[in-house]
Amino acid sequence: MLEYTFIPYDHESFSDEEMLKRSTDFYRWANSRRSVRDFSPDPVPKAVMENIVATASTAPSGANKQPWVFCLVSSKEMKSRLRVLAEEEEKRSYDGRMNEEWLKDLEPLGTNWVKEFIEVAPWIVVVMKKPYETDGQGNKRNNYYVNESVGLATGFLLLAIHNAGLVALIHTPSPMNFISKALNRPENERPFLLIPVGLPAKDVKVPDIKRKTLDQVLEYYD
Ligand SMILES: Cc1cc2nc3c(=O)[nH]c(=O)nc-3n(C[C@H](O)[C@H](O)[C@H](O)COP(=O)(O)O)c2cc1C
Repeated sequence: MLEYTFIPYDHESFSDEEMLKRSTDFYRWANSRRSVRDFSPDPVPKAVMENIVATASTAPSGANKQPWVFCLVSSKEMKSRLRVLAEEEEKRSYDGRMNEEWLKDLEPLGTNWVKEFIEVAPWIVVVMKKPYETDGQGNKRNNYYVNESVGLATGFLLLAIHNAGLVALIHTPSPMNFISKALNRPENERPFLLIPVGLPAKDVKVPDIKRKTLDQVLEYYD
């Protein structure tokens, strides 16, 4: 059985006043993040993307299994291929797989089956989840709370992208099996999300969505 040694945790804490200032500043900064659907083709250094993925991989995970892999796609050919395949699925979804209510909810966002951003953005991060690990001899070990863990890692990824002054879009072409095939991923990985990352296109506009207010999302039990 694996046993951990326990080491001191070097933790920084703050006065109430400083905590309030930091948490307010952080909230304001996080609230300035927006999903962007029009990207500039300008390149973003690989080292920046590596830091962003390293940050995502600091997320907590069920039993510390870290059941994720981040594929960084910048190859023109692969991005074109992913675009074609994603658009095939999206066209089918918009032309009948999504119900009326879903299409109505998407209407104000102005989305459709055309996914130009997959080709234009300098990087596509494909987040893969790993329901189980293999040891190369056909033995499988299940991971725990895989969706929760990979969702958390993706949250960290998005804030790291925002922190670097970059923008992203969570994209969910459905079904996503084509990604595993195109990227030749192993059997124990499943596509989770496809995320174009880069700089925004010049004069980009975003829908004027409203975030729920605190009293809509917070319940006290004092
Ligand atoms: C799980 C998930 C799937 C999403 N899928 C898509 C998508 O396929 N296409 C798209 O344009 N936006 C997609 N979005 C982006 C949402 O529309 C966007 O996050 C939402 O409108 C809020 O806007 P904001 O990110 O600017 O706060 C997705 C977001 C999430 C979290």
